[in-house]
Amino acid sequence: MAFSKVVSSSTSSLPSLLLVISCLLAVSVAHSNSYVPSSEQIVKGLSVSFYETKCPDLESIVRKHLKKVFKEDIGQAAGLLRVHFHDCFVQGCDASVLLDGSASGPSEQEAPPNLTLRSEAFEIINDLRELVHKHCGRVVSCADITALAAREAVHLSGGPEYNVPLGRRDGLNFATREATLANLPGPASNTSFLLTSLATKNFDATDVVALSGGHTIGRGHCTSFTDRLYPQDPTMDPTFAEDLKEICPTSESTNTTMQDIRTPNKFDNKYYVDLVNRQGLFTSDQDLYTDERTKGIVESFAEDQELFFEKFVHSMIKMGQLSVLTGRQGEIRANCSVRNSDNVNLVSVVEEDLETAAEL
Ligand code: HEM
Ligand SMILES: *[C@@H]1O[C@H](CO)[C@@H](O)[C@H](O)[C@H]1NC(C)=O
Ligand SMILES: *[C@@H]1O[C@H](CO)[C@@H](O)[C@H](O)[C@H]1NC(C)=O
Ligand SMILES: *[C@@H]1O[C@H](CO)[C@@H](O)[C@H](O)[C@H]1NC(C)=O
Ligand SMILES: *[C@@H]1O[C@H](CO)[C@@H](O)[C@H](O)[C@H]1NC(C)=O
Repeated sequence: MAFSKVVSSSTSSLPSLLLVISCLLAVSVAHSNSYVPSSEQIVKGLSVSFYETKCPDLESIVRKHLKKVFKEDIGQAAGLLRVHFHDCFVQGCDASVLLDGSASGPSEQEAPPNLTLRSEAFEIINDLRELVHKHCGRVVSCADITALAAREAVHLSGGPEYNVPLGRRDGLNFATREATLANLPGPASNTSFLLTSLATKNFDATDVVALSGGHTIGRGHCTSFTDRLYPQDPTMDPTFAEDLKEICPTSESTNTTMQDIRTPNKFDNKYYVDLVNRQGLFTSDQDLYTDERTKGIVESFAEDQELFFEKFVHSMIKMGQLSVLTGRQGEIRANCSVRNSDNVNLVSVVEEDLETAAEL
């Protein structure tokens, strides 16, 4: 509105008009606190303006729907953030985690990570996909919708906002059980293991500590931490341990508890304050404060939330672009749970895909 007023003002000379326009732009940028990744941070084939013409309302559709979902149950934010993490760590951010029958089957000893993903998260992503495809056609991938949902999970829970590089394509391959277990460290992992494991994905110690901050929201099942109760882990605050034993009376308890005891549903830096107070839930969390290579980073995030937000956003943008499919690779799924070739409801796959390919 302000724009058209300026443009229609016949008294403005061109230079002063440009000045006014640039001031307006500067103000609008200054008002939104959304972090914009630099071009070096964006992998080839992705772009923050990827859907600008093909689906300009994409981000507002996702945000509006998730606002409603989170108002009913803020726990779903945690579920969505974790799905994006699992998607990206196993075979890249290609929405393979969403495929029915993907990931892992039941294991003898270790509960496969897939089993504690919230089933509602998969439904929410499919609902978003349906809303977006109704509005724009089948142009937005399930992998991009998952990445955007994770951003909203962080932002709408009180965390930082950032622009998401978009243009991911959906994978055609399931991740095997072996790949799932090999790429997702378990909660009993120590810092040495995490640093080595995440270094294979080009993450450093700061990335590892910052990404673990995702545990500032959401829950954990007893099975993920009872190894620290029976017998009791000496690095755990004794009062915290007693409280957890009430929630999980035996190592077989199916109860859950919040990961961040201070502000369980708020995306903030209190997770690090928990660690400094030896109230981290998993070994993989608490050991970050024991290991000398990461202890100082934990302390700095506990003291400075802005610093945590800055590093978290940096690491999330990196994580969100792991081994992405772009251009003509993969496909845009019509249903996030099934590949198009397996989709019995999809009659015109071939024609539509040719059309999509022609646009590229
Ligand atoms: C560094 C290695 C990591 C390990 C070992 C790990 C492990 C776990 C485990 C065991 C759970 C609980 C599952 C359950 O018992 O229900 C969990 C939950 C969660 N994780 Fe992680 N995680 C890691 C990294 C991440 C990252 C990078 C993120 C996102 C940035 C993340 C976000 C979450 C969230 C939001 C939940 C709560 C899910 C819910 O409430 O449904 N985690 N994680
Ligand atoms: C992985 O977990 C999700 C959600 O619980 C489920 O829908 C999917 O079928 C699971 N995949 C396998 C192979 O267990
Ligand atoms: C960390 O875990 C690995 C793998 O479980 C183990 O071999 C190693 O001894 C542990 N390191 C420390 C310092 O506890
Ligand atoms: C679950 O946790 C609650 C406390 O949050 C506790 O009162 C209850 O006994 C636990 N239930 C089981 C089956 O362990
Ligand atoms: C998506 O695919 C799943 C698995 O085949 C099916 O159960 C579901 O009804 C499909 N959803 C839509 C909207 O077609």
